[in-house]
Amino acid sequence: MSEFSTVLSESRRFPPPPAFAARAHLSSPEVYRRLCAEAEADPDAYWAARAKEELFWKTPFHTVCEWAPPHARWFLGGTTNLSYNALDRHLDTHADTVAIRFEGEPGDRRDYTYRELHAEVCRLANGLRALGVRPGDRVGIYLPLIPEAAIAMLACARIGATHSVVFGGFSAEALRDRMNDAQARVLITADGGWRKGAVVPLLDNVRASLAHGVPTLQTVVVARRTGASLPSLRAQERSWDDVVAGQPATCEPEWVDAEHPLFILYTSGSTGTPKGVLHTTGGYGVWTSLTARWVFDLKPDDVYWCTADVGWVTGHSYVVYGPLMNGATVVLYEGAPTTPGPDRFWDLIARHRVTILYTAPTAIRAFMRLGDEHPKRHDLTSLRLLGTVGEPINPEAWMWYRETIGGGRCPIVDTWWQTETGGILISPLPGVTTTKPGSATLPLPGIHPKILDKQHQEVTEGAGRLFVTRPWPSMLRTIWGNDARFKAGYFGEHPEFYFTGDGARRDADGYFWIIGRVDDVVNVAGHRLGTAEVESALVSNPKVAEAAVVGRPDALKGTALVAFVTVKAGVPTSKALEAELAAHVTREIGAIARPDEIRFAAALPKTRSGKIMRRLLRDVASGQDSKGDTSTLEDLSVLAALRTDDE
Ligand code: WT7
Repeated sequence: MSEFSTVLSESRRFPPPPAFAARAHLSSPEVYRRLCAEAEADPDAYWAARAKEELFWKTPFHTVCEWAPPHARWFLGGTTNLSYNALDRHLDTHADTVAIRFEGEPGDRRDYTYRELHAEVCRLANGLRALGVRPGDRVGIYLPLIPEAAIAMLACARIGATHSVVFGGFSAEALRDRMNDAQARVLITADGGWRKGAVVPLLDNVRASLAHGVPTLQTVVVARRTGASLPSLRAQERSWDDVVAGQPATCEPEWVDAEHPLFILYTSGSTGTPKGVLHTTGGYGVWTSLTARWVFDLKPDDVYWCTADVGWVTGHSYVVYGPLMNGATVVLYEGAPTTPGPDRFWDLIARHRVTILYTAPTAIRAFMRLGDEHPKRHDLTSLRLLGTVGEPINPEAWMWYRETIGGGRCPIVDTWWQTETGGILISPLPGVTTTKPGSATLPLPGIHPKILDKQHQEVTEGAGRLFVTRPWPSMLRTIWGNDARFKAGYFGEHPEFYFTGDGARRDADGYFWIIGRVDDVVNVAGHRLGTAEVESALVSNPKVAEAAVVGRPDALKGTALVAFVTVKAGVPTSKALEAELAAHVTREIGAIARPDEIRFAAALPKTRSGKIMRRLLRDVASGQDSKGDTSTLEDLSVLAALRTDDE
């Protein structure tokens, strides 16, 4: 970060605009302090009140929280259904409000009112039941960002099936591994999706995955999106239309236990295999519903657009569950931000009169580079609130977002959270919090983050590692099928405090500044990747002997991926091999994991005990001189060779 940005970020403060605060759900620091004090004085009473306000409970819960570290259970004895909470609850009051306003990349449009969305969800829920899907069964969802994705998730929730959405940008191999880990019974997909004017061949990927075997899978449901008609379907495949045909537009929800598994979502960790983060129903529902209203200040007349794909947790919590439980109008846009032109986002905002925009710093930086003329050509005055998520936002991008997109009048909420946290934990409240560009500011009421040093001493001002010291309703419950990994990964550092994997700093006002990951996870263009995953993809190529992947700071993507590769004896290295390996990673994981740079090395620098010296490689990758202690280098010439190559 430049010196300018430090000065800028430390000195600039933006209190909530009075007109915004006047009509916000939470509207003053006193309200915030009162809620925090309530949560502190009697956590059970605080959470019980939130849970009762937020959800319809078919059976009331008798116990708020049972905390047997590292396992938490919330709202015990309660039964509910999140599809009922997201849909049926609105039918008496605003059935004709638009729930989903969809625009496809080619420009096609579809609106679903709450009444219509309810009917579609019920039809599919009935159809899935007819296919034999039972409560607790896992259903895979591999779809473009089209209304069917939300419909499929809510249909699963309605019948108590546990969904596992796999981002459409993941490859056939990645899909197969996730379906196998979850032991999915049904997979819902489409013929394809539109991305940058081309078709992403989802059905082909599904067929390729199945060819390698997903033994538990009984049926593939195929929606039509890109073709004039569906290709001829194979055994096991059924068209979406066929599955819902003749099904009634009502469906009795399955009243599930608060701790019933709602979804599994795979995310990257520090080993080669992704982990299935498990979220359950009650606590997740309470917190996503509450935070969607608190942080985005959702009102009946808002048109809310979160640009995330449903393949990520942001799409689960703040495209589907949170906003719909609040009865909001949600914009869904299928395609790329710059198709057909660099102003597609601004054009969408102007035409749909979007009032709330929630997107990633990488997108903001990319738009900044494309030039002000594109947003300036469009009327963005409908916007009243801006949000960011996924990676640290540099103060320059924050200021550009505020001035050029928000016209200087919109509060910005920089929301810190993770797949594992289920919902936002640290964020400004737009009617309450004075913001500082680059800071996620303060914890939401009831959330207890702490920065600890290596000796587990709290750092009240300064930098350290970020923990959450008390359970919260939407925390992950375990890693699907691997509780040992859950324990070691999140509670291995401290037996009772959840370890986030992030480094953070607190300033004199107690504000949190997220620095970035301290583990082997990297955020590339707002997408989370494990360096070990990319390494194992590389070494699965027969020409590769060994690989080490590290992140290097990148002005646009936040972090870029650099792969150091040693090849097997006799394999010549070349530009062509670089391209071949990059394509190999795309095939194994998906284009998001494709290394930005591949460097061939004769050997990788290792400690005496054989550990790859990643710190050194990170320095080499970012062009810095290594300050690391090189005395343990197995072979000093390796370092020298890498440096020479670097020149
Ligand atoms: C990691 C979690 C949360 C939904 C999207 C990403 C980084 C997230 C922020 C923020 C700085 C952030 C962290 C975190 N991150 N939000 N506002 N400021 N960093 O979810 O894929 O689980 O990634 O994203 O490093 O650990 P995810």
